[in-house]
Amino acid sequence: MKIVTIVGARPQFIKAVAVSRAIQEFDKKGSCSLGETSERRIKEILVHTGQHYDYLMDKIFFEELELARPDYHLGVGSGSHARQTGMMLERIEGVLQKETPELVMVYGDTNSTLAGALAAAKLNIPVAHVEAGLRSFNRTMPEEINRLLTDHLSTLLFCPTDQAVRNLLKEGIKDGGKKVVKKVGDVMYDSILYYSKLAEKKSTILRDLKLINPQFAMRNPQYYLVTLHRAENTDDPKRLNSILKALNKIGKDAPVILPLHPRTKKMMNTYHLFSQAKRIRMIEPVSYLDMLTLERNAKAILTDSGGVQKEAYWFKIPCFTLREETEWMETVESGWNILVGTEVERIVGETRRKRRRVPPKVRAFGDGKASEKIVQIISRYSV
Ligand code: UD1
Ligand code: UDP
Repeated sequence: MKIVTIVGARPQFIKAVAVSRAIQEFDKKGSCSLGETSERRIKEILVHTGQHYDYLMDKIFFEELELARPDYHLGVGSGSHARQTGMMLERIEGVLQKETPELVMVYGDTNSTLAGALAAAKLNIPVAHVEAGLRSFNRTMPEEINRLLTDHLSTLLFCPTDQAVRNLLKEGIKDGGKKVVKKVGDVMYDSILYYSKLAEKKSTILRDLKLINPQFAMRNPQYYLVTLHRAENTDDPKRLNSILKALNKIGKDAPVILPLHPRTKKMMNTYHLFSQAKRIRMIEPVSYLDMLTLERNAKAILTDSGGVQKEAYWFKIPCFTLREETEWMETVESGWNILVGTEVERIVGETRRKRRRVPPKVRAFGDGKASEKIVQIISRYSV
């Protein structure tokens, strides 16, 4: 069977690579390691919308993760939501008309996700959504609109958690009839398991940033790792200023390392905020292997990223989420992830507070075989 996979933004490269590897394994063996057999080989066509395009937001992941070169690069780039999504729609439609796949796979909740799902659905091509059912219940987030619409356009919905399945049920989307709704686990968990071993061997970021002294091996580097890019935080000067002030204060306790997303860099320039951030060590965005290494060795992580919240949890690193709500409540329930919002005193106070945590339930996100399960289901799927 022929499928078209649509990606475009950093987290999608990390998610799609896990499923692409499972497809390759499946094709090699004629089945996946779960023991099922199937006659249906899968040919995957990779489409990159071009939503992310800086080397450090894009190509570095293809190189490091050994993700196949895209068969189509649509070169859409940045723009307003309507412009970016509209250009993607038009260009994706052209590819789908030419390739006539049996299925289109989309990942997560970006504009590339929505454009892929909508272009396919209008051509009556079934859509498979990986990371279906996530909800923040905050419709001012562009991602929430993308998730809602994509789920309602999809025929195969691959949920990372039980909560995601329940969220879909509340919206009337359930397994049966024409819909396939399955909890398969989280493909990002598959990726972290696979790549963290490689990161241990290959990444030199802690030494490069002088966060450890090689003479004392890897013991106890003491730094906070931060990521910040959510539009609700970066595009509001008051909020951005407040978060930076908090990070600056935390910088008195231990080094604060911030790989800077291009959106955040742009907005800090626009609002002249670099002078507020003297105690924050800003670096360029890092590769996935370097990011896993930075996360795993951090004293704590502060973030507004969806993926980074989960990675902190899987590595058992305390996380402080710079938002008022999260799609990943499983990480909050056991005390590993604290929602700290964007006010200075609250952020600083929460990072300094001692607290007890129960062991994280990583199994809530599956068993590390989400990608294999997805491939097994799509290989058996026919319209
Ligand atoms: C997008 C996703 C967000 C996801 C994030 C992952 C949407 C609506 N948002 O946000 O859900 O969490 O990716 O990182 O799809 N820019 C560059 N170089 C790049 C890419 C972006 O300079 O390679 C700058 C441009 O100024 C651009 C801005 O960043 O306008 C925002 O980029 P965009 O892709 O629109 O959204 P993200 O904030 O990256
Ligand atoms: N990431 C990375 N380098 C960075 C920042 C993040 O490799 O400098 C990885 C991170 O480990 C996670 C993914 O990118 O796997 C998360 O993407 P992002 O935060 O951009 O988007 P979100 O998950 O919020 O949609």
